[in-house]
Amino acid sequence: MEFERIVKDGVVVTVDGSVKADVGIVGEEIAAIGPDLPTEGAQLIAAENCFVLPGCIDVHTHLDDAYDGLRTSDDFESGTIAAAWGGTTTIIDFATQLRGQSLQEGLDAWHQKAESRASIDYAFHLIISEVSQKHLGDVSGMVSSEGVTSFKLFMAYPGTFMLDDSAILKMLLQTRENGGLVCLHAENGGIIDVLVNQALSEGHSAPKFHATTRPMNTEIEATRRAIVLSEIAGVPIYIVHLSAAGALREVREARDRGLPVYAETCPQYLFLSDEEYERPEFDGAKYVMAPPLRPLGNEIELWKGLADNDLQIVSTDHSSFCFHDPTGKQLGRNNFANIPFGAPGIENRLELMHQGGVNEDRLTLERLVDVLSTTPAKMFGLYPRKGDLRVGSDADLVIFDPRKKKVISSDTHHMQVDYNAYEGTEVCGAVKTVLLRGETIVEDNQFRGKAGAGKFLKRVPVDLGNR
Ligand code: URP
Ligand code: ZN
Ligand code: ZN
Repeated sequence: MEFERIVKDGVVVTVDGSVKADVGIVGEEIAAIGPDLPTEGAQLIAAENCFVLPGCIDVHTHLDDAYDGLRTSDDFESGTIAAAWGGTTTIIDFATQLRGQSLQEGLDAWHQKAESRASIDYAFHLIISEVSQKHLGDVSGMVSSEGVTSFKLFMAYPGTFMLDDSAILKMLLQTRENGGLVCLHAENGGIIDVLVNQALSEGHSAPKFHATTRPMNTEIEATRRAIVLSEIAGVPIYIVHLSAAGALREVREARDRGLPVYAETCPQYLFLSDEEYERPEFDGAKYVMAPPLRPLGNEIELWKGLADNDLQIVSTDHSSFCFHDPTGKQLGRNNFANIPFGAPGIENRLELMHQGGVNEDRLTLERLVDVLSTTPAKMFGLYPRKGDLRVGSDADLVIFDPRKKKVISSDTHHMQVDYNAYEGTEVCGAVKTVLLRGETIVEDNQFRGKAGAGKFLKRVPVDLGNR
């Protein structure tokens, strides 16, 4: 067999183990994996002393997101370039159905944003902010025709996105018919609203009050309620950006009862704590996100949950707003409730997780691949095309040098945002080369990809039964 390209002499890492092997590529796909593949006529891509990982999949990003007059600083061009630098070759971004829109209008808007800009492959979840009979009726078409098989519902943000229990239950029942997956933002928005107003009326305007008005109980309660609703509907659920150890306990307890309850966490909840809100001046605004960062020590249980598969995925929840921009974080200078929510991170996930997980002995290399690539692909209907290194899969590969040292900084990152939430963090292990469907898109410290080269991926429903 002749190969067009061979990734040579790396250690190929999948969830099943790690072996020294070459990866032979023909066209956009992996054609063979094995020792000493015949090199005649092939372009050789060096991977000696490096790991070869399946391209990472980030199932939670917000690119070119606009709401309440706000717009994220990263669009599909800058965001996917930054993702590629960090070893991510597929994202699932959150398209949004705003109130007053049909599901199709929400989805079409996202196709337009991504189409000519994305340099890596992409798919969409759909945020649903209104659950009328018409909207419910349109869900099945999203799953069967549009390739959008997962839907995010909010238990927070009253007045814009928050849905009540009956709306959530109706959506869950709907997915019973069509195999879609409901993803829940689990924070009790009603309680938070009261606490925010109380804090503001007492004159508390600094960023740290963002965290004190969203205590862990509000996430724990919502997570428990989400599980009850999914149990009543008899369908799986996926909890997004789980942050509180107590919420993880709810998920674990449900899973121990055999319920198909799944959850992701994000690097910010593993690497950062609410001490960031004590930074001088207004600097804490950089860490205003929902759920907020939690007290130091909380992360210990999250790491354990990842190792034990009570948490299945690590995504970034990348949502970038510039710190110095008057239309970004500065909007909340005099009122923490006006600080746009979200933090950047699309570029840093693999290197951080390799450092905190593998180097610091919390996760095996194989588990790292599982939570960053294989399970995201399996759970969200992209497997086996994505998420694995096997014959017939897309040749999305990351050549990762475990000895390369790096200091994370906004001076060198590629995200279009003026700060890095992990500024100064030292990691040992960095992305060297990235291939998307056989094409090299990052190499020799250069981005070689192309805006618009990313393909939209239609996803298929997955039987998530009991796992
Ligand atoms: O603060 C966050 N997480 N911003 C993005 C929107 C969301 O709720 O995921
Ligand atoms: Zn959310
Ligand atoms: Zn999000």
